Amino acid sequence: MKSYHDIVGDGGSNVVGQVEALHGAIAEALSGVRHRLAVGSGKGGVGKSTVTYSLALALRRQGRSVAILDADFNGPCQAHLAGLGAAPWIPGANGLALPHNTEGIGIASFGSLLPDAKPMEIESVAQGEEQTWRGMREFAMLAQMMSSIDWGTLDMLLFDLPPGAERTRQYAHFFGESTPFVLVTIPSELSHSVVARSISALADYPNPILGVIENMAGYYCADCGEVKPLFSSTIKELAVPTLGSIPFDPALAGRSAESSEDPATLALDAIARRILEDLESQA
Ligand SMILES: Nc1ncnc2c1ncn2[C@@H]1O[C@H](COP(=O)(O)OP(=O)(O)OP(=O)(O)O)[C@@H](O)[C@H]1O
Ligand SMILES: [Mg+2]
Repeated sequence: MKSYHDIVGDGGSNVVGQVEALHGAIAEALSGVRHRLAVGSGKGGVGKSTVTYSLALALRRQGRSVAILDADFNGPCQAHLAGLGAAPWIPGANGLALPHNTEGIGIASFGSLLPDAKPMEIESVAQGEEQTWRGMREFAMLAQMMSSIDWGTLDMLLFDLPPGAERTRQYAHFFGESTPFVLVTIPSELSHSVVARSISALADYPNPILGVIENMAGYYCADCGEVKPLFSSTIKELAVPTLGSIPFDPALAGRSAESSEDPATLALDAIARRILEDLESQA
């Protein structure tokens, strides 16, 4: 069997050419996208996906065109949040697919392609190196989703990321500096300690961190109209600005807050405005 040392040059694979072609295809597919924004967090289950979808709705309310790429291949949520059932890719022009469109938001999520209750299965080819291989396949799938979908003209493309500080760093590296980050946390000591690591993990990368979104900041009681405390501890400030605080609102758990006056909707609208201001000032 040959080892890498026996292969001369790139073995005829033109790997550099292939990578350049892929980068070109991604740049072309995203050429009409004004801003990209990655929604991440080192911590799992803090509401990244819910905040991403709700933020898209808030941007839509402000007249912006927006789409979401669900980059969480192991636990895709955006198809469900958007109310899409089984929905195959929609063929578009030039061999590209079109994102699904619900509530005026473009959605590309493997959740609509997989049968219910079936996980994504990524085949392993290299024995003993499953994790490395799977990690590479995730980025290959992400690159394919970015390059093979006709995103059209958009004010904002949001990426819903999976959890994990190291993964967040890998996504930053993959996206490059044109994709700023917002990180989602909940106001608990535990979540802040993990998200602080994600902030440090991103420090070596040029992607701007716009700030953290504090989710589940108090519990909104629709009956009494009050926001009551959910976490009692006093917690250390994080090293980036807080863009806003969204209460735990049972209406959000059931997809999106409906009323324009409830605290979660008001908070999301303010966060969307702040993000737009930050992105416009950096452009
Ligand atoms: N502000 C909120 N009010 C009510 N429920 C919420 C809120 N934010 C998130 N949730 C609920 O909390 C749960 C976890 O949210 P979500 O899946 O968005 O987290 P996540 O950070 O994306 O998780 P993962 O790390 O697995 O990707 C979901 O059931 C969601 O409906
Ligand atoms: Mg998620």
